[in-house]
Amino acid sequence: MDIRQQRKLDHIRQALALDDGPLSNGFQDVRLLHDALPTVDFRAVDLSVPWMGKRLTMPLLINAITGGTSLVTEINRRLARLAARNGVAVAVGSQAAALRDPRLRDSYRVVRDENPDGVVFANVNPNTPVEKALEAVTMLEADGLQVHLNPAQELAMAEGDRDFRHWSGNIAELVRHCPVPLIVKEVGAGISMETAKRLLDLGVRCIDVGGAGGTNFVAIELRRQGLSVPAFEAWGIPTAASLAETVWAVESRQSVGDKATIIASGGIRDGWEAAKALSMGASLVGIAGAPLKGLLGGSPGAFSPSGNAEGDKAAQGWIDSFRHALQVNLALTGSSRIADLQNRPCLLTGALRDWLDLRGVP
Ligand code: FNR
Repeated sequence: MDIRQQRKLDHIRQALALDDGPLSNGFQDVRLLHDALPTVDFRAVDLSVPWMGKRLTMPLLINAITGGTSLVTEINRRLARLAARNGVAVAVGSQAAALRDPRLRDSYRVVRDENPDGVVFANVNPNTPVEKALEAVTMLEADGLQVHLNPAQELAMAEGDRDFRHWSGNIAELVRHCPVPLIVKEVGAGISMETAKRLLDLGVRCIDVGGAGGTNFVAIELRRQGLSVPAFEAWGIPTAASLAETVWAVESRQSVGDKATIIASGGIRDGWEAAKALSMGASLVGIAGAPLKGLLGGSPGAFSPSGNAEGDKAAQGWIDSFRHALQVNLALTGSSRIADLQNRPCLLTGALRDWLDLRGVP
């Protein structure tokens, strides 16, 4: 196994071993308003949303995790089945490995094979040339292409990238030539209002904020080297702050009708936090660490790359609770569909409000 394949397994092992943090995702400072006289039937609240020409049964994305070695094919198969069974979107991990070596394609392709009608996202790094990015899309008959921004992870990685000068120009090229919507995502350090505006200027129309408070890639990379640097591990923009900044960037830049779509992700723990993110302006909520921990048993000791039926049950249980919490949130805010929730008041308090005041976000 080469170093890149070994890295895929290390990432999963470390993600299972580490707790979220040290930053909080910030959603404890977001409050939805209770409606004591709702006019909805709880059993009839509709969580479904349109997404890129298809329909999701609820606004959930199982975010990019893995691929690139046959040892993780089974994980991707199980994640894809979970997505298909529940009618939610799913992304694969970075396809760089399969773009270098076509023999590794099956570990990604399984996600489309197990989920022929669902929403599936391809995933590349921001150095990927246009023709290779198109190959990644074709490989999965993908509905969208994620481009991940991970400068903190790269700098924490001994073998990581050091020169980021070409990322912006390449993203503009990808926007111009990609036949499916491009989604630019962070992986856990968040997108600021300034970065969001630059992405909008490059033509990007979908941003996944990937904020801090959940899976911590700096910590994962440092642990792989036997290191711990607390200040580096506390780097990043908490998800709720990043989401508010990105929503503000989109609203202050763009007219209704041409608005970019925002995905909230980064340490979202359950349907309660997802409801807050949707109410703040997200269209979709992404989760990676939570389903992975469910699927693989939550402890590194129990790590088995193939997963097992118990893991499937735990991951399904997590999704069932997520759906139920979202339904409760809709009913208790007097919302009969997700679009109603997105129009309900949402109070930003405490440290989050302080952050947004300092940043000039109303
Ligand atoms: C990831 N993530 C990720 N993202 C990406 O764009 N390409 C990738 O290859 C990977 N690989 C990867 C491996 C593992 C083991 C995990 C847990 C995550 C990042 C992921 O998509 C997401 O942005 C972050 O994990 C933040 O979300 P959570 O985990 O806090 O819900």
